[in-house]
Amino acid sequence: MIDSDPFGDSTQDMKTIAIANQKGGVGKTTTAISLSAALASLGKRTLLLDLDPQANATSGIGVEPDGEGSMYLPLLGSSKIEEKILPTRFKKLDIIPSGMDLAGVEIELARRDDHLTRLKKIISEMPAKENYDYCILDTPPSLGVLMTSSLAAADEVVIPLQCEWFGLEGLAKIVHVIEEIRQSGAAPDLTLEGIVMTMFDGRTNLSRQVVEEVKNYFPQQLYKNVVPRSIRIGEAPSHGKTIFEHDPSGLGAKAYHKVTREFLRRQTT
Ligand SMILES: Nc1ncnc2c1ncn2[C@@H]1O[C@H](COP(=O)(O)OP(=O)(O)OP(=O)(O)O)[C@@H](O)[C@H]1O
Ligand SMILES: [Mg+2]
Repeated sequence: MIDSDPFGDSTQDMKTIAIANQKGGVGKTTTAISLSAALASLGKRTLLLDLDPQANATSGIGVEPDGEGSMYLPLLGSSKIEEKILPTRFKKLDIIPSGMDLAGVEIELARRDDHLTRLKKIISEMPAKENYDYCILDTPPSLGVLMTSSLAAADEVVIPLQCEWFGLEGLAKIVHVIEEIRQSGAAPDLTLEGIVMTMFDGRTNLSRQVVEEVKNYFPQQLYKNVVPRSIRIGEAPSHGKTIFEHDPSGLGAKAYHKVTREFLRRQTT
């Protein structure tokens, strides 16, 4: 497991971090789960909010997806967000699960004038905010309402990026969307916290080239630690386990541990 608590317990104001990339299968959910679990084990009180109707973060952390329990009703104003918070088996880590009903929220929210800022308002007015240091949003692979309103609700965005050429095209696009959201006034202070390279394969030049390319354009945002392509990382969710439980001493667990420490160091500089 992860070392205990070198950063100390804390009581900072809750910060909302969206894990986002409109491209599918790039490691968003794996990063959201791993970062949340690692932050909690380092003493940070963390709320993982699963905003993807696929509910992969929910099942991946070992919680049953729940149609009634998702953000669907709070987003439509029919229930309070507090009622949706569930504990996980990890100390200091709670979750708001996803369920299939969230798929329908896209259409219903799109009808409302405040669709971009609805989630932001709910999260920022949540009384339970005081109980958390971080709220981590796992977002769906699209540019739909759930994804864009997650960006609008966030203080910072972490982009997981697969070490593939097509990943770079996707990066340009999400950076543009972040800029648009900032300029729309919905989230003027939204920052691109960082870019975490995932599925890095040290045996190929391609992986290194893609990392170099990102470094050229985003030297400050690029994480120094990369997440390797690892069979064990791919297996973990099928057991409802985090990589820290499934293969605690493996390269995947080490990488996500380092990424989390880097995240925390960046938060303080
Ligand atoms: N570093 C890795 N090495 C090997 N497999 C990985 C790695 N990271 C994620 N995977 C696997 O790749 C698949 C996609 O990962 P993940 O679900 O985290 O991506 P995602 O961006 O959330 O996908 P989606 O866009 O569908 O939500 C999953 O099966 C996951 O277990
Ligand atoms: Mg996902």
